[in-house]
Amino acid sequence: MSATPLAAPNPFFPISLRLQGARVLLVGGGEVAARKVRLLLRAAPIIEIVARELNEELAALAAQGRVQFLGAAFEPAQIVGCRLVIAATDDRALNRQVAAAADAANIPVNVVDDPAPSSFITPAIIDRAPLQVAISSGGAAPVLARRLRERIEAMLPAQLGQLAGFLQRQRARVADRLPTSERRALWERFLDGPGAERLLRGDEAGGDAELQRLLDGAAPGGEVFLVGAGPGDPDLLTFRALRLMQQADVVLYDRLLPTAILDLVRRDAERIFVGKRRSQHAVPQDEINAELVRLARAGKRVLRLKGGDPFIFGRGGEEIETLAAAGIAFQVVPGITAASGCAAYAGIPLTHRDYAQACIFVTGHARADGKLALNWPLLAQRGQTVVIYMGLGTLPQLCAEFTAQGLPADWPAALIEEGTSSAQRVISGTLADLPAKVAAAEVRGASLVIVGEVVRLREKLDWFARHASTQLSERPLAG
Ligand SMILES: C[S@@+](CC[C@H](N)C(=O)[O-])C[C@H]1O[C@@H](n2cnc3c(N)ncnc32)[C@H](O)[C@@H]1O
Repeated sequence: MSATPLAAPNPFFPISLRLQGARVLLVGGGEVAARKVRLLLRAAPIIEIVARELNEELAALAAQGRVQFLGAAFEPAQIVGCRLVIAATDDRALNRQVAAAADAANIPVNVVDDPAPSSFITPAIIDRAPLQVAISSGGAAPVLARRLRERIEAMLPAQLGQLAGFLQRQRARVADRLPTSERRALWERFLDGPGAERLLRGDEAGGDAELQRLLDGAAPGGEVFLVGAGPGDPDLLTFRALRLMQQADVVLYDRLLPTAILDLVRRDAERIFVGKRRSQHAVPQDEINAELVRLARAGKRVLRLKGGDPFIFGRGGEEIETLAAAGIAFQVVPGITAASGCAAYAGIPLTHRDYAQACIFVTGHARADGKLALNWPLLAQRGQTVVIYMGLGTLPQLCAEFTAQGLPADWPAALIEEGTSSAQRVISGTLADLPAKVAAAEVRGASLVIVGEVVRLREKLDWFARHASTQLSERPLAG
């Protein structure tokens, strides 16, 4: 059995260096040097540059007085009094000469892309000022470090810096009210509760009020997150949706949500199914609304997770009207609606300069009398695309009406079943033949109908079917 080699010790020790007002010498005037300057400027040092030539960006910064150009020739005397030295020329010998001079003066030096003569290296940085995340592989694998940075970057909310700044400003207020032994528990309650979430969406007053509640000894207030989960593919969730899904204490969800999405909700969150199962009735809307209010009043963070976008044929508006009337805090996270998701994955652009200058979303749900309450003169027009949600059951009636209103029988139309999932099927045809094709295909899943000349583009633009089997997980229906 071969022994795993021990990892070599990392010769670099991470520190954060105060550079504000300190002198930094940069030797080099090209793109690499400019990249360093962009990063350095955030820490507000005095940047002095030695270079044969300055590129456009550096020349502009010099003209604005934001960096100082010392001239073309490097001289060791330029290093005296600097806190850092960076060599970023494409002349390896010159870079090494700069490094040797800085080393001799005991001033930290970095040679870009050359760790051997460098006494410091710069990590990959995620900046959420005042918060910073730095990742370093000790010079061993900078590309790996950058990849990690991209992943972590995606996980950290854009407003994290504002949250950190708020916490910094409130330290004295909390210190005035609480002994040291109780402060940490308070901050943890705050960060786990709705206060932090409010700050992350830019609501400083809301965050402040929540902190005050905790200081007054109250339990954290409840909140409802009305979140759009997109049309099926979990990769189409937004960062914010995912973040809130991972914070919820309880989730109320509908039938169309795939288990792959529900699996991303915080593991120990209570799950309440409120959708309609075949041959059963859905939980009535007013009961769902009342349940949201009850749970939030009990101090829970309630996730109301909906397929697609909550404000498009999702009754999300009604749910938050009740919350607003009851004075419950809520936020709405948009999702990719079925029309955008299905059209993209079917290779059907919803608008196109040559074929459709407008796009209309309608529901094909019939009224109690079996009739479709739609504005037909508006819908049966050329130069536009009509997307019909919930139109599977009324498809023959819909297609007949479009032709009765003046569109030709060979007008293109398509039905997309289980769009964006590995089970996606697209049936395209015309107003005349689509209903029969759909009946023959025994379509049963969630389906969207697209009517308009853009459907023809699918022949050229279909991309998803070729990748579906390798790219997507299965999409069994939950509930
Ligand atoms: C009650 S509506 C909800 C729409 C949702 N709020 C949205 O923005 O997509 C449900 C209808 O959306 C359509 N739908 C949702 N997801 C779909 C999918 N993955 N593929 C095809 N149609 C879908 C179907 O017409 C389905 O009957």
